[in-house]
Amino acid sequence: MTTWSLEYHSFEPDQEGLREALCTLGNGYFATRGAAEEAGAGDIHYPGTYLAGGYNRLATEIAGREIVNEDLVNMPNWLCLSFKPEDGDWFNLLAVDVLSYKQKLDLKNGVLERNLRIRDRDGRETTLATRRLVHMGDPHLAALSWDITPENWGGRMTVCTALDGRVINAGVARYSQLSSTHLITLAAGPAGENAIELLSETSQSRLRIAQTARTEAYQQDRRLNVDRALIVEDDYVGQTLGFDVQPGVATRIEKVVGLYTSRDNAISEPALAARQAIERYGKFAELLETHAGAWSRLWHRCDVVLEGSDRAQMILRLHIFHLLQAASLHTIDLDVGVPARGLHGEAYRGHIFWDELFIFPFINSRIPEVTRALLRYRYRRLDEARRLAAEAGFKGAMYPWQSGSDGREESQRVHLNPKSGRWIEDHSYLQRHVNAAVAYNVWRYYEVTGDREFLGFFGAEMLFEIARFWASAVTWNPQRQRYDICGVMGPDEFHDQYPWRDGPGLDNNAYTNVMVAWVLQRAIDAYRIVGTECQNELCAALSLSPAEPDTWDDISRKLFVPFHDEGIISQFEDYERLEEFDWDGYRAKYGDIHRLDRLLEAEGDTVNRYKASKQADVVMLLYLFSAHELDSLFEQLGYQLDAGWKTRTIEYYEKRTSHGSTLSRIVSSWVLARRDRRHSWALLNEALESDVADVQGGTTAEGIHLGAMAGTVDLIQRGQTGLEVHDDTLSLDVGLPEEVSSMRLRLRFRGHWLELEITHDLVRLAVPDDWAGPHKVMLDGTLYTLGAGKRLDVPRRKAQRV
Ligand code: BGC
Repeated sequence: MTTWSLEYHSFEPDQEGLREALCTLGNGYFATRGAAEEAGAGDIHYPGTYLAGGYNRLATEIAGREIVNEDLVNMPNWLCLSFKPEDGDWFNLLAVDVLSYKQKLDLKNGVLERNLRIRDRDGRETTLATRRLVHMGDPHLAALSWDITPENWGGRMTVCTALDGRVINAGVARYSQLSSTHLITLAAGPAGENAIELLSETSQSRLRIAQTARTEAYQQDRRLNVDRALIVEDDYVGQTLGFDVQPGVATRIEKVVGLYTSRDNAISEPALAARQAIERYGKFAELLETHAGAWSRLWHRCDVVLEGSDRAQMILRLHIFHLLQAASLHTIDLDVGVPARGLHGEAYRGHIFWDELFIFPFINSRIPEVTRALLRYRYRRLDEARRLAAEAGFKGAMYPWQSGSDGREESQRVHLNPKSGRWIEDHSYLQRHVNAAVAYNVWRYYEVTGDREFLGFFGAEMLFEIARFWASAVTWNPQRQRYDICGVMGPDEFHDQYPWRDGPGLDNNAYTNVMVAWVLQRAIDAYRIVGTECQNELCAALSLSPAEPDTWDDISRKLFVPFHDEGIISQFEDYERLEEFDWDGYRAKYGDIHRLDRLLEAEGDTVNRYKASKQADVVMLLYLFSAHELDSLFEQLGYQLDAGWKTRTIEYYEKRTSHGSTLSRIVSSWVLARRDRRHSWALLNEALESDVADVQGGTTAEGIHLGAMAGTVDLIQRGQTGLEVHDDTLSLDVGLPEEVSSMRLRLRFRGHWLELEITHDLVRLAVPDDWAGPHKVMLDGTLYTLGAGKRLDVPRRKAQRV
């Protein structure tokens, strides 16, 4: 095994869906699943191509009512490539003997390779070596290269290359009852002598997509004169290339694809741009060189080196790789957020959730310009969030739980329980805490970059409007002399209502309330930081009265936080009235109990009755805030907590959590990093395996879990290093697991790179000549000075003795 590639050594039809998601190639502008070029969509293969922000809305009649869903559209399949010998069949892995098979995702260069040897039913043996790239330098290009060697046969060979617009969204079985035909073909035909083009449009959002493909054949590096024939069918354009082959002589087929849409910058018209794109580029090798160069620059910024565990290292790189394919430098010019399941599949329809909370820390510390662009996706939808708030009877701005093209609430109102076959009311839109997540992301971006212009032009306005929303969502409880937030859901999706109350919503979700207390204070900070001129501008534009920040301050000190069992923070008010759940009994009965909600509903019961969580909820607080921040938050709220509350709370909920969301293990591993290193490392390894090993049994094929992927990287870069900056001091609290011998990474802070190397003996920090601080470094209780252009080596044993 190498730490730079994901490899498979046999063809396993039942694993294809998973491998396709994991071998997706993309560049932030578009991505294509790692499906075999010769295969169409069916039970085994699902070749999906998704454009960042490429949504379309369709209505469906379900359970007697019309529901409307917006989906990230599966775009025409540009991969199509196959061959056949004269009198033979088109290449199909399921119809031949596979003599050898190797598939490799080369993470360093961003190339997907297959090397295989097959024997068809007439005894013809063929070797095939394929390579694929989705260009990281030019987001509108992709390319395929196939080396086909007939080992024991010769004669006429035909290759078929195509652009296939007959695709629908069929990647998630649960959605199969929903409308799924999103594309209309506008034109399909030749584009010059050796190329084809397909122009499609999404049926409702009217996004035009132009694809062109130029296919050439080479033998011994010489371009072949081939017999070409055009095939134009409904929603499909293809071309066959006929030529002679000899035993043992390879023919290289190269397909270069251009992809533009009507939303692109700096073009006249997408079809014209796509045609020019493929005319301007030469051979696959040239594209590969510039593509690999773009990846090499990205890796220089983003790699995390972990020595001691090759598997953990490989998976970490795989995670960074997919993050960079979902949000890359090309994102900067787009109006998009990061879909929870990447551009890798159709689960959650490409919607954007609070998961960005887990994703942005990695991007902040590597390419903060990308975070800025992603935050502007939210800023552009601020008006829609204002409308949502007003519609629900609140002030300010209320961001939706699920967001797509225009920022309206995209959460479904019913969802299918595959265990029972029933359509269930879905109340997840009540996860108003997403508003705290948007504010949190704005603030953390500002902290890492010091970007006051962003704060002044965009961030502060979002913070103020979110603060206003919360200020209008609280109610004063005269008995307690505290503010309540009622009728919401916390992050734990197992609980959406009280078993004893009609109607959805819970009161005083502790996570939400504490987050709100923090957010309100940050809105006040932003008010101060932007300066008088900007304050005046914003006050005028938003009709913000100087008294509002005073109200925010008051609320942020008097929000209610529920407790039970002597010092355990309750997930929500009255949580203690729920029944304990029979974890052992259900594990014995079902084995996999991640999705208890579905199992219990199918039994006619409801998980709402039990002290059982799908994912970290209260514990999220210990994940998002440093010990120092949390202590001051509770002090601000007027709660005096004893020293043991954190450990007690973690232990209490760890026992009662099914980790039914891949985000959950990230949080648990993080909060245990210093309390129980062994357990924390085990959870980190489980989190690393979430997608590679498809731990949820089938969900990865529908799209990777980007929050968990980014979370694992952040677990190394901040969780295990304990890296924090506050009061102009950079502090480290290293928790290097025994299984890892060293870690090396570079982090971007306020426009400069910080290099960090940690072994069991040494912590080494190095900063460039123009490092602007912090210059104070706190390591295991000792304060050091880190001058610009200097390197600081602290022996760990010594540090630990202090
Ligand atoms: C989790 C949510 C998450 C969503 C999208 C759900 O399973 O419970 O917290 O936002 O997936 O990843």
